Amino acid sequence: MKIESNPFGSSHQRNQIFLKFVAFFLLIGLTYRFLITESTVSPIPALQTSPVDPSVAQAPFSVLVVSTKCDIFTGNWIPDASGPVYTNVTCRHIQDHQNCLKNGRPDVNYLLWKWKPRDCDLPRFNPEQFLDKMRNKWLAFIGDSISRNHVQSLICILSQVEEVEEIYHDKEYRSKIWRFPLHNFTLSVIWSPFLLKAETFENVEGVSYSDIQLHLDKLDDKWTDQYINFDYVVISGGKWFLKTSIFHENNTVSGCHYCQGKNNLTELGYGYSYRKALRLVLDFVADPKRKAQVLFRTTTPDHFENGEWNTGGYCNRTMPFKESEGEISSEDETMRDIELDEFRKTQEGSNANITLLDTTSMSLLRPDGHPGPYRYPNPFAGLKNKDQSKIQVQNDCLHWCLPGPIDSWNDLMVEVMLNRELYR
Ligand SMILES: *[C@@H]1O[C@H](CO)[C@@H](O)[C@H](O)[C@H]1NC(C)=O
Ligand SMILES: *[C@@H]1O[C@H](CO)[C@@H](O)[C@H](O)[C@H]1NC(C)=O
Ligand SMILES: *[C@@H]1O[C@H](CO)[C@@H](O)[C@H](O)[C@H]1NC(C)=O
Ligand SMILES: *[C@@H]1O[C@H](CO)[C@@H](O)[C@H](O)[C@H]1NC(C)=O
Ligand SMILES: *[C@@H]1O[C@H](CO)[C@@H](O)[C@H](O)[C@H]1NC(C)=O
Ligand SMILES: *[C@@H]1O[C@H](CO)[C@@H](O)[C@H](O)[C@H]1NC(C)=O
Repeated sequence: MKIESNPFGSSHQRNQIFLKFVAFFLLIGLTYRFLITESTVSPIPALQTSPVDPSVAQAPFSVLVVSTKCDIFTGNWIPDASGPVYTNVTCRHIQDHQNCLKNGRPDVNYLLWKWKPRDCDLPRFNPEQFLDKMRNKWLAFIGDSISRNHVQSLICILSQVEEVEEIYHDKEYRSKIWRFPLHNFTLSVIWSPFLLKAETFENVEGVSYSDIQLHLDKLDDKWTDQYINFDYVVISGGKWFLKTSIFHENNTVSGCHYCQGKNNLTELGYGYSYRKALRLVLDFVADPKRKAQVLFRTTTPDHFENGEWNTGGYCNRTMPFKESEGEISSEDETMRDIELDEFRKTQEGSNANITLLDTTSMSLLRPDGHPGPYRYPNPFAGLKNKDQSKIQVQNDCLHWCLPGPIDSWNDLMVEVMLNRELYR
């Protein structure tokens, strides 16, 4: 199963032609607005990072050219000797489980690549400019531990320019708020793995001891209650929907996923709950009375080979895949299809301030970017004399090493955030 390079896939080609016309006229309108209002408010931020010749960028219709020609989400990883902007020494915000340098991962080649969209160049994230743009603003990441992984990458990059203060954390250190005092920029991460109201039952090791109760018709007020504060939001669902869960709708149990005949409940599948969740989330954030600009991030593929996380799967590759080599798993593909489908419905129905942050292909090509066994310092210590291939050390082939490929998610994020009109 190859990933579709064009997220607005083939089944919608007829609609697409119509939409292109609509988009064309909308863009002409926007360009016109841009021209006549340039001296007062520019809809295109001063941080013009679009990969076009600057002389061409002055031309009124260049907006159209870039939007149809460059899909920044499709491309390849190319060698880049400059390496990451931070290390385990210069960033103190890296979670131990993802601190591959500190934990003794022996190869470093995975740090020497940059994302190259097929038809243009993506500028590198500029932390000074980003912080300037974020002055007096509040950016929130909402999701699961991948969102946390992402926010830590962003903080590591930004803290090279301005050190951050943590001003809040919850009891489990899963939701946090930070401030960059010189820029009055506030950054949150909110732990809400389903984005829905859910009762989860886990011990401190993260092992479930009872089924998840998932409310498919109620959003998690942990994020909706705070939502009014945010100027920018990066939101995403993901792997939690694959777990055993009992579905509640209209105050009754409507079915379940992966409940193996328990209580005679109907197996409705994770596709059912994921679609319901995204519909509810997208309707909430696209409501015209809400002001935040939303980036809806697509699913993160994992790279377990020869097993899963709990059955000896591993990810010991040391090179990225080429564009033609990445194969998406059927579960990731299902989730992504639902995401694109529901996102498209939102986009067609409104002028909501929401764009897709499609990190899936970029991530799919990086089987080499995960901690693997290096979740702890020296995972093979003391096992030196034994055959390493026979030893079952638990691998993480889902989260990303910091520094690592997830740093490039920020290059895409800032491009989409600050040039919204190009990526709608
Ligand atoms: C950083 O990682 C190196 C190994 O790459 C290790 O020697 C060093 O102690 C680490 N430092 C910190 C502060 O984690
Ligand atoms: C800091 O930013 C917040 C919005 O995030 C704003 O309400 C507040 O007035 C700002 N403070 C200063 C001192 O500018
Ligand atoms: C829940 O109630 C609504 C409105 O009464 C109805 O349209 C919907 O089909 C119900 N859903 C389920 C799963 O019972
Ligand atoms: C499940 O269904 C079977 C057959 O309809 C019935 O005999 C049994 O009591 C049911 N079990 C529960 C827990 O409802
Ligand atoms: C989208 O939201 C951003 C951040 O709040 C804001 O600066 C921008 O003007 C909004 N764009 C539109 C078209 O509403
Ligand atoms: C990865 O591990 C497998 C099984 O231990 C081994 O056969 C393979 O050679 C390893 N690949 C690399 C690149 O180390």
